Order: sequence, then structure tokens, then C-alpha cells
Amino acid sequence: MGVIEKDGKFYPDEEFKSKALINSYEKYQEMYKRSIEDPENFWREMSEELFWYKKPEKILDYNFDTQKGKVFHEWFKGGYTNVCYNALDRHLDNPTKNRVALLWQGEPDEDVKVFSYQMLHREVCRFANVLKKKGLKKGDRVCIYLPMIWELPVAMLACARLGIIHAIVFGGFSADALRDRIQESGSKLLITVDQTLRNGRKFDLKTNADDALKDCPLVTDCIVVQRTGSEIPWTEGRDTWWNDEINADDISNFCECEQMEAEDPLFILYTSGSTGKPKGQVHTTGGYMLYVYLTTKYIFDLQPESTFWCMADIGWITGHSYIVYGPLLNGTTSFMYEGTPLWPAPDRAWDLIERYEINVCYTAPTVIRALSRQGEEWPAKHPMKSLRVLGSVGEPINPDAWKWYHKNVGKENCPIVDTWWQTETGGILIAPLPGAWPTKPGSATFPFFGVVPRSADPGVDDPSKLGQKMPPGEAGHLCMEKPWPALSRTIYGDHQRWIDTYFTQFPGMYFTGDGVLVDEEGYHFLQGRVDDVINVSGHRIGTADVESALVMHDAVAEAAAAGMPHEIKGQGIYVFVTLKMGHEPSDDLRKELVSHVRKEIGAIASPDKLQFAPALPKTRSGKIMRRILRKIVENKVDELGDVSTLEDSAVIEELVKNRLG
Ligand code: WTA
Repeated sequence: MGVIEKDGKFYPDEEFKSKALINSYEKYQEMYKRSIEDPENFWREMSEELFWYKKPEKILDYNFDTQKGKVFHEWFKGGYTNVCYNALDRHLDNPTKNRVALLWQGEPDEDVKVFSYQMLHREVCRFANVLKKKGLKKGDRVCIYLPMIWELPVAMLACARLGIIHAIVFGGFSADALRDRIQESGSKLLITVDQTLRNGRKFDLKTNADDALKDCPLVTDCIVVQRTGSEIPWTEGRDTWWNDEINADDISNFCECEQMEAEDPLFILYTSGSTGKPKGQVHTTGGYMLYVYLTTKYIFDLQPESTFWCMADIGWITGHSYIVYGPLLNGTTSFMYEGTPLWPAPDRAWDLIERYEINVCYTAPTVIRALSRQGEEWPAKHPMKSLRVLGSVGEPINPDAWKWYHKNVGKENCPIVDTWWQTETGGILIAPLPGAWPTKPGSATFPFFGVVPRSADPGVDDPSKLGQKMPPGEAGHLCMEKPWPALSRTIYGDHQRWIDTYFTQFPGMYFTGDGVLVDEEGYHFLQGRVDDVINVSGHRIGTADVESALVMHDAVAEAAAAGMPHEIKGQGIYVFVTLKMGHEPSDDLRKELVSHVRKEIGAIASPDKLQFAPALPKTRSGKIMRRILRKIVENKVDELGDVSTLEDSAVIEELVKNRLG
């Protein structure tokens, strides 16, 4: 047993609670209150669970108010540590050195690789020595463009060991997107692979990397992992094989860790926003490390022998924090899977859970919906008795998907932690502590230690109310009143953009871009984005990215993108396109434009629907009326209000008439 359902709430039972790290709401409240009222002592105490070369002098310094000067926050100043040391070396004593750190399953069944902490340490040290040999040092940037193969965490940890800042680019991104990120980050070295395996097929990645590198003169070295062994293009003098590098005679098994100041950057990770080019979120050593360590421990209620499977791709923040750093910092076993959960059969995921006796399974609503479509018979074949906690992340989880997950995967025995957070936030901010309080389907429940969320009045009806707390049951905009250790410090190379993006809408607070509703009992229900970001299968796509890709095409005069409801993906991408003179709408052109977006950004940004329109509705100042487009796309035409008074009413009628169902 594990969970008891009563009046629509799901309670952890006594057996679950007896093992839980935090087993009552009172215990949580006590710690939570202290984290807010006495952050200095709370975070100092927590930081002592990890290793520091030199203890921090000052725990926190910050200003969130643009009126009071520069917006910033700093944690654990004067403290020196190393994330790789804490993730690996800290566990090298007996018996933990032989505990499994990384359990890697390739897509083909026979491809399995098991690293104990000692083995992973050795591999990481060797690769760190390779990076050193290439002349890289603290503060340099390395770009990593790899699929879900074990070399990816090795490369990350090797960077962290030396204070090299990694910038990982999701393997599904196009050559152009990769190029932009390499250039933005000023990376000197690229790590990539010959090909990736997906659903039994091989896809070139090195050719993408080559295309990107044509415009990246700073990159002098490209280290290539051999995954499939197919013939690939090669640039002598620049390209070398991972295996040749790491097995060279002059590479030793040990590499000293760089002592990093708490505020030194650990990595850059790019995220789409509502405007313009990708934003390089900068995460730092001390704050990020401690926060992901603690959230992994408490939210997934880690037990001494937990095997943790986060199904995300490491190319996204979820994989950074909860495949690599969080589990390893806790000395637990991280299970990493190369393939997709639907291939070769729809019970692949359930089979792996059984095979490796996974205890924590962390995935996204889009995956749950896709798997639920395959029918209950697939999970029914697998008792999955090892499972103890189930997690969800990436988008609002609809109660149907929540209940399906609970019944078919958790077999009604496992608490579900619906975890809300963002690339910017570094780690989970709102989620249940599974042994401490009951959950409600669709709610991420309460904030983690140090986090003070507010459902803020957007001030639309009454500007004087901007930022005030919304009453229970009424949706507002989600803000954070105070900093927490893992919030990104800046956008790489553009601090003003970080301030403008997050701290100008609601004075004195961090604005998340999400809507939220808090009910009478204080449970948080996330409502999705309130800005121009589309959440496709849990991946953030900026409308601006799609639009600027489209207008780069010769035939396109203007484009507008909006999120449309999608049964599996949560949201799909719907675009309106007006053509330049001399171009006519056609099915061929539609196909061409869709593949143009794929080429520019990647398959994840592929428009689901593309409607040709003679014109787009605009305000007097020439801005596209997105609110109206969104309503059309959501098929909420009756909520457009009275459009007859608008100059553009004919344009809107035309769009509605030709809406693609
Ligand atoms: C959405 C992923 C509802 C949200 C960790 C956020 C969620 C964006 C949830 C961040 C959740 C993430 N419930 N919505 N549990 N988790 N989101 O940066 O809109 O890829 O702003 O980080 O995903 O996406 P990102």
C-alpha cells in the first residue's frame, strides 16, 4: 500500500509515512517557516550537508526591486566548493564507492553500461584531463550536442570538475539553432556524436554539427563520440574521436577539482522566450548545487537505495537537475535511457521499470497521455512493485492523465508529485512532499523551502491592484516574492535582459510567465503560460522564434504563431502566414514552410497547422492582436468580444471562416 483516497484527495498511508523523510505537514511547516523567517541560518545549516573547501561567509544578498538599484541575488559568497566533487568524490568511501551511480540502458537491449561511483569518477577524471590537454580552463565554455548516451553526463561532470561552463544543446535542435548557441556562449570546443539512434533508426548529428561549425570560427576542436559507426564527414585537425582522446597514454585516472567560488557559473542553458534570440540562463555553483540536492532528496523522498529514473532528455533543464546533478549529489542511482518509452513496444518504459526495479519515475504529462493512448493492457502486464514515488513535470497535468498515471503505473500505491518549475528556477519550486500532505489531481500543492509564491493580480481591470494577492479560487499571475538559491543569476552576456524579462512586470518580484490559481486550502493549480510561449510536449517554444523563422522565407510577409490545444502534446503550434506579392497559397508552399521551420529551429517547433491569411489583425500602433489570434486558434470564437467596432473586423471574420479544424 501507499496511498489512500478520500474525498478527491490522495493521502500517503502510514506505511509510506513511516519511511518518509518529512512525514507531516507540521514538520514541513516548521522547516518552511524557518526557511522564510531565518534564511541565513536555514540555508547555512543545509549547506553543511555538502562539502566545501571553505565555508560560505555570507549566505544571501539581494535586491529584487528595480526602484532600488540593480536587480541581483548572490548566495554563499566567500564559500568554495566543486559540484563534481560533491557528486562523485564525496561518495568514494567504502561502501558507497561501489554503489551504482549511473545505470545506462541503450536503445538496443544489449547496450547496457553500469558505472559505480568509483568507475564514474575515473571516467570523468580522464575526460577532464582530455579537456585540460586541449587547453581549456576555468571559465571557458564548452558546447555539448549529444543524445542520451552515457558520455553526456561524463562530459558535463568533467566540465564541472574544471570550472568549465557547459552549454548543452538538445540533440533535436537544428544546425542553425546549434550555431546560434555556440556563438552566443563563445564556446571553444564542441562535443558531439556520429549519429543518434531513435526508434531503431539512425540519424546524423555530426553533419548538423559540421553545418553549424561553418560559422563558428572560435571552435577549434570537435570531439566526436562513436555511437553507430557509420561513415561520417571529418575535418582533419579539428575533429577527434572521444575514444582516442580518453584512451590516450598520457591521460591519467585522476584530475584535481578546481576550487570554485559559490557564485562562479556552472552552466549556461538556453531557453526560448516570448521575444527574440534564445536566453542563456546562467546557473552557478553553490546555489544550484545545494538547491537541486535538497529538492531531489525531499520531493522524491529518496531512500538509501533509491534508483531514480527521470525520463527527460539531458538537453533540457529537467535532465540537468534530475538525471545528473540531483541524484548524484545525493549518492543515489540514476537510471538513464537512450530511447523513447514507446519503442519497440508500448510497454518499453514499464518493462524497464520492472527490469531495474526503479523506485522513482519522473516524467511529463505528454508522455503519460501518449502512453495512456496505447491502452491499459500494456502497464497491466507489469506489476512494477518497486515504484514508490511518481513525478510529473513540464506542463499542467490534466486530472485524467494524473488518474491514469496513479491507477495504471502507480497501481494506486504511489504518491504523485506534480512538480512546477522552469529552466530559470534551476530546481523545483512548487511540489508535494509525498509523505507530508495529501495531493489533489492537477495541483502542484505547496512551495518548497525558501520559496514564496504569489498569485498576483495582473492589474488589467484595475491597474492600482497590480501585484496584489488574488483571492482564493481566482487565477492570477505567478510571481516569487523572494529569491531562492537556484534562480538563474543572469542571461549570459545581457544582464539587463534578465531584469527586463523577469523583474519589470510586477515590482519587487520575479515573474514566471505562468498563470496560477490558489484554492481555499492553499493548493496551487498551475494554469499554463500567460505570455507568448507555447508549451509543446513540455518544451518551451517562443512564438517569436517560430515567427522569425517563417519571415526568413522568401514568400512570407508576416507570420503569427499561437498555441492550440493538442490531445497529446498539450499544446500544438498554429501559425497564420501572409504572403508577399507574387506568391499564392498552396499545399506545396504550406509543406515547404513547415519544413523550413523544422530546418531553422528543429522538429519540436514544427507547426501543426498553417493557415494562409490575406492579413493579420493589428492594433492602431501596428502590433498583431495576439489575444484574438489565440481565441481563434482555441476555437473560442464566441469569446472574441464585439469585433465589429475594430478596424480589422473583416480580417478577423476571414480568419475565423478559414480556421483549420
Ligand atoms: C511549464 C521545465 C504546470 C510552465 C522544468 C513553466 C508546468 C514551463 C509544470 C517551464 C507543472 C513546468 N505544471 N506547468 N508541473 N512544470 N511547467 O523551462 O509553463 O522547459 O513556465 O522547464 O513549463 O519550462 P522549462
